[in-house]
Formats: sequence, C-alpha cells, structure tokens
Amino acid sequence: MAPGRFVTLEGGEGAGKTTQVGLLAAALRARGLDVVTTREPGGSVGAEEIRRLLVTGGTGRWSALTEAFLHFAARRDHLERTVWPALARGCWVVSDRFADSTLAYQGYGLGLDRAVIGQLSRLALGDFAPDLTLILDLPPETGLERALARCAADRYESMDLAFHHRLRDGFLEIAQQAPERCAVVNAAGSPQAVAAAILSAVDRQWSRSGGP
Ligand SMILES: Nc1ncnc2c1ncn2[C@@H]1O[C@H](COP(=O)(O)OP(=O)(O)OP(=O)(O)O)[C@@H](O)[C@H]1O
Ligand SMILES: [Mg+2]
Repeated sequence: MAPGRFVTLEGGEGAGKTTQVGLLAAALRARGLDVVTTREPGGSVGAEEIRRLLVTGGTGRWSALTEAFLHFAARRDHLERTVWPALARGCWVVSDRFADSTLAYQGYGLGLDRAVIGQLSRLALGDFAPDLTLILDLPPETGLERALARCAADRYESMDLAFHHRLRDGFLEIAQQAPERCAVVNAAGSPQAVAAAILSAVDRQWSRSGGP
C-alpha cells in the first residue's frame, strides 16, 4: 500500500484555503488517490465542539494562551480520531489549516510567546508534522474583502487590519524557516490559477519519490 501523505493549507482569512482544499482533493482523486479532506479547528466530533468555542463570541473571549490550549486540545483529538487513522489506511489527508495557524494567529497575531506555542506543540504532536504545507499568500485587504463578501465577520475576521498584516508576515516567516516542508503560493490569481500552482508545488515536493 502506498504511504499516506499529510498536506495542509494555511493562510489568512479569505485566502482561498477552503476553495483550494476542494480543488486539490478533486485533482488528487482524478489521479486515483484515496483522499480525506478535513479542517481545523475541528475535523473530529470532539474537535468540532471545541471549534464552536473558538469561532463564536467576542474578539476578547479567550486570552491568547487559553486559546492556544483549546487549539492544541482540538488538534490532538483531530489527529487521533481522523488524521492518523486515515494516514494508516494509506490515504492522502488534506487539511484546511493545521498547527501553523496557531503559531501565526496566537503567536505572530496575538503576541503569545512563540516558544510557549512550541512547547504545547511538542506535547500535543510530538514530532509529527505535515509532509507539505501550502501557504496561500494574499494581501489581507483582499482576503478580508473576499471573506466578508461571503458572510458576516467571525471572531478573527473582526480583528483590526494590523493583526491581519502580522498574520501574513508570520506565515511568510514560518515558510522561510521550514523550506523543506512549506511552499508559498500566490493566492491572488483565479481559483484555477491558484489550483495549478498548488498542484505544481505538490509535484515538486514528491518529484524525488516519483510524484503522487
Ligand atoms: N482565487 C480566488 N479569487 C477570487 N475569489 C476567490 C478565490 N478563491 C476563493 N474565492 C472566494 O473568496 C471567498 C473566500 O474563499 P475561501 O472560503 O476558500 O477562503 P478561506 O481561506 O477558506 O477563508 P476563511 O479563512 O474565512 O476560512 C469565497 O467566497 C470564495 O468563493
Ligand atoms: Mg475557509
């Protein structure tokens, strides 16, 4: 059985993550691969319950540290119940956000000590990491416009613009620090253009092992 692969999509609000998870899954399935799509926070029954606590309520509902604990609790459940079993079955797992979002939002965005996030991450994940992380990069103004055109603002979308700029810079720094795992994709083009760039990044990541 071919080994499973874990691919995560990251980026700010309205960057196109959910759209691209769907397009990437369809492209991989067209190649005959078994694909599971999932999302964070959430992706398992327990983690979806925690998600509700995270995405509803006022912007100041949780301190950054409490929020980080909630994210990692949800993430552990998501891994145990959804991601790891699917990888063990040989599936490709494509996740709409993962651990880099906690580092970007709670660390770069809300100013929580990034070393603390690293400690939580080691506790909750051990040394488990995605095989490939696609960082969808877009000016925050464009992303927020897209997101707000779609529906009313949620907790994070209500944060000020400076927060969203810190997020974008944070994601780019994360990519710079882990170039073997991360690919930055320009998310400003059409959905089809972004999907093509994502598929090229996937093929580049696995060209050494013959590609998916
Ligand atoms: N490349 C694109 N160009 C223009 N609009 C797009 C593009 N990709 C997605 N959209 C639209 O922008 C909105 C946000 O896209 P999407 O929901 O995929 O982003 P997201 O990154 O998942 O957002 P969120 O962070 O809020 O979950 C949607 O209405 C979607 O149809
Ligand atoms: Mg989304």
